[in-house]
Amino acid sequence: MDSRIDRIRENEKKSHTEIYQKETLYSSSTWLGKPIKTVKDLVPYFSNHESIRVLDLGAGVGRNSIFLAEKLKDKHCRIDCVDLLDIAIDKLKHNASDFDVADSINGIVSSIEDYTIEPNSYDLIMVVSALEHVESEESFVSKLKEIERGIRNHGIVCLIINSEICELNIETSEELEPQFEVNLLTTQMQNILNDVFENWTVIKENVVSQKYEIPRDGITSRLTTNVVTYVVQR
Ligand SMILES: C[S@@+](CC[C@H](N)C(=O)[O-])C[C@H]1O[C@@H](n2cnc3c(N)ncnc32)[C@H](O)[C@@H]1O
Repeated sequence: MDSRIDRIRENEKKSHTEIYQKETLYSSSTWLGKPIKTVKDLVPYFSNHESIRVLDLGAGVGRNSIFLAEKLKDKHCRIDCVDLLDIAIDKLKHNASDFDVADSINGIVSSIEDYTIEPNSYDLIMVVSALEHVESEESFVSKLKEIERGIRNHGIVCLIINSEICELNIETSEELEPQFEVNLLTTQMQNILNDVFENWTVIKENVVSQKYEIPRDGITSRLTTNVVTYVVQR
């Protein structure tokens, strides 16, 4: 792995460890406070399933998976949750017990790159704010193709991915290196997604520009990003 990736991974580890140690799932004023609406909106798609297999890549402490496990509890639901960080998977397992869904949640410490998705094995694969953290553009495209092959008939892929990310020092306006391994132009990202999932039914597709300030090594950085939401059904 090159030094840029090492640097980004070290920063990511630091910031996520801090938030996972400090904040409590579903009772936090941060992004851990509630599951994302796009995932909540998927529940009705599985109302006729007797069993359901889900994969959550870069699952964190289970913000979206624990919600789904609760909602799909009567359906023999099994959710494989993959994250690079031990602390994320430890907290995820505790959260699963606390919310009484431990039987449905399978925590796996692995990188997204190293986790092999068996073909035709999942009804839902979601990757929320994590696919841009694979180590290269090649890994990004090849993981998307693996995701495509991993979905059963009528299954759903739900992706939320940052694109065209810029960071500026708010005091000096100096450009900073965005802490994302893969930083594609938004149109480039959309083209890749539409190529890989050609002929799938689009459930939701949008791009939302976001701007926020984050602490970065003793300075404040203004981060701008185009967040791509892409939900498709086979
Ligand atoms: C912004 S958090 C989002 C967590 C979760 N998807 C959610 O929506 O709450 C990104 C997560 O991806 C994990 N992550 C980052 N790069 C990864 C990689 N290459 N492989 C596996 N997990 C990764 C981080 O450890 C972190 O828990």
